[in-house]
Amino acid sequence: MSRSLSPDLRNALSERLRYYREMGIYDFYCRDAASPPDSAETLALGDSIASPPELYPEHREQMSPRKSAAVMAPSEVSTLEVLTSKPEYGVADPVAALRIIREDLGDCTRCRLHKQGRKQIVFGVGNPNADLMFIGEAPGADEDQQGEPFVGRAGQLLTNMIKAMGLEREQVYIANIIKCRPPNNRTPERDECETCSPFLMRQVATIKPKVIVALGAVAAKTLLAINDSMSNLRGRWYEFKPTGVRSNDPNWSGAKLAVTYHPAFLLRDPRQKKEAWKDLQMVMKELGLKAPAK
Ligand code: URA
Repeated sequence: MSRSLSPDLRNALSERLRYYREMGIYDFYCRDAASPPDSAETLALGDSIASPPELYPEHREQMSPRKSAAVMAPSEVSTLEVLTSKPEYGVADPVAALRIIREDLGDCTRCRLHKQGRKQIVFGVGNPNADLMFIGEAPGADEDQQGEPFVGRAGQLLTNMIKAMGLEREQVYIANIIKCRPPNNRTPERDECETCSPFLMRQVATIKPKVIVALGAVAAKTLLAINDSMSNLRGRWYEFKPTGVRSNDPNWSGAKLAVTYHPAFLLRDPRQKKEAWKDLQMVMKELGLKAPAK
């Protein structure tokens, strides 16, 4: 296998290693690429997914075969496909696929937030076939209490924004970058976003929205991996492809993404609502929506 890994493959490998660590598998050994895989060993992994290729050949001797995962040496492309395989792949019904992703998330303890006072995981809500998806930052106290994103004051404003676009809340899908409330509503840490966002990416690839609206700077910067001011980020379209996942639909390769102000910011500074309305009008035009008659 090539020693220089593409960013996608590198991400896939680290995701897979984390998965193995969660299963209690820490050690890997290298099988000669020429020898066929041992089926019993492969089955012992608990699923039919092939194991990661050799990551650190120079450390080979230090890695014991105890609790080991079998190592194969397929081509980089097929390795990527195998490593990024998700249990919801092949599940055509998005309701069922979202349920699988939720089950995979479980009673998540992947980052520190699980022991910092969260009551429950706030997965996401809405139409699994939505053309429009809103992505906020993190659950607040009300969301943590009720298990649904955007149900507090900021949520009421978001619901009104959705209605002003000629839609009902139930017609769109709403989620956050992270699914657990940070203590005292602090801004999510980068590693918390990185740990949680693979699940969001899977939700996006399942729902396959035409348009995503990133609400506020945290959502925009995390989704776009750009560090810029809101005034620079707003007012234009971005092509968004969820990383590390693929959708069931060969005709869907990503969504258009627009950035607007977070509703909580608009509550603090209502003068900015007319700017946010411009952003929403841009989205409405793209989706062929008309504002309801007053
Ligand atoms: N703010 C967010 O970013 N998300 C919520 O769900 C609620 C408030």
